[in-house]
Amino acid sequence: PRVAVVFGGRNSEHAVSLMGAGSVLEAIDRTKYEVIPIGIAQDGRWVLAASDQRFAIESGELPVVDTSGAALALPSGSGGLVAYDPGAIPVELGTVDVVFPVMHGPFAEDGTIQGLLEMAGVRYVGSGVLASAVGMDKAHMKTVMAAAGLPIGRYVVVRERDWRLDRETVLKEAEELGYPVFVKPARAGSSQGISKADDRAELAAAIELAREHDPKVLIEAAIVGREIECAVLQSPGDERAAASMPGEVKVEGGQEFFDFAAKYYPDQMSLTVPADIPQETAEELREMAVRAFEALDCEGLARVDFFYTPDGKLIFNEINTMPGFTSLSVAPQLWAASGLSYPELVERLVQLALQ
Ligand code: DAL
Ligand code: MG
Repeated sequence: PRVAVVFGGRNSEHAVSLMGAGSVLEAIDRTKYEVIPIGIAQDGRWVLAASDQRFAIESGELPVVDTSGAALALPSGSGGLVAYDPGAIPVELGTVDVVFPVMHGPFAEDGTIQGLLEMAGVRYVGSGVLASAVGMDKAHMKTVMAAAGLPIGRYVVVRERDWRLDRETVLKEAEELGYPVFVKPARAGSSQGISKADDRAELAAAIELAREHDPKVLIEAAIVGREIECAVLQSPGDERAAASMPGEVKVEGGQEFFDFAAKYYPDQMSLTVPADIPQETAEELREMAVRAFEALDCEGLARVDFFYTPDGKLIFNEINTMPGFTSLSVAPQLWAASGLSYPELVERLVQLALQ
C-alpha cells in the first residue's frame, strides 16, 4: 500500500508536527509500504517533501516545511492526489491508500484535514471529523466530557463578543474562580498562548495573549495535583479501545507549568511510567481514559491527561486526538512501556486506518 505521511500545517504546532513526522518516516516499514512524505507549508501550500527536508530541532532552530519540493494539488477524486509543478505539466502522484496526518492543532487536528480526506474518499489514521473538531476546542471538549460523567475543573469561556463588549464582566466572572487561573486559547495545542495569571492585570494580559491564537478563550481554575497521562488505542475488530499504563509528567526546568519549551526542548520534562499511584487509582484512570475516547467517538489513538489531587481525586484535563508523536513523546513512550514499540504502534495505526 501507498502511505502519505502528511506534516506541517498552518498553525503554531507546525514544528511539533515535523518532529513527529520525522519519527514516523524513520519507523514505518518500507518493505511493506511505499511512503510519500508531504508537507503543508505555513502558508497552506502542499508540497512533496524536499529531499533535504529537516525534521528535527537543530541548534535551537525549529524545523519548517521546505517549499522547494514539487507543489501538490489538494487531494481530489477517489483516493487520488495530483502533484504538479506550477507552470509545468502536472505530475500524476497516483492513488494513496492511506494518509497519516502527523499534525497537531487547528487546520490539522481539528477535523479540517479529516473532512478534506473524507470528501476525497481517502482513508486516514486517527479520529474523524467530529472527534477531531470537538477534541480541538477545549470548551466543547469539556462539555462532552462532563456529559460523559468525567470530573472536570471549573472554568469560564470568553467569546470574542464578550471581550469586545464587556471586559469588566468577563474579568469579574473569571475572578470568581479565584487566583491563580490558567488562561488558554480554546483551540490551540502544545501550550501555545497559555499563561498563568495571579491578579487582574495579569489576567487581562493573559486573555490578550490567548486571543492572539484564538478569539475564543478559556479561563480555568488552577488545580493542585500531579499530572498523569494515559494513551488510548483503538483495538482491531470489535474489542473495546485499550488504555496504556499511566505515566506521570514533571517539569524539570524552572517553569511553573508545561510551556512549549518544557515540552519540546531536551531534558526539560520527565516521564515516569508507570506513574507511582495506587493500583486502583491507575485502573480508574485507565477506565476514565477509555471512557473519554469513547465519549468523543475517537478512532486510532488519543492521549488523555488528568490531574491527580493530593486528596486522591482524578480530574480530567484534556484529550488530544493526535498527541505529540515523536518516538520520545509521551503517548509513544506510554505504549512502549506497555509493550508496544514505536514501529509497532505506527504499524497498528496504519492497519487500523486500512481496516
Ligand atoms: N498538542 C501536542 C502535540 C500534544 O498534545 O501532545
Ligand atoms: Mg492539547
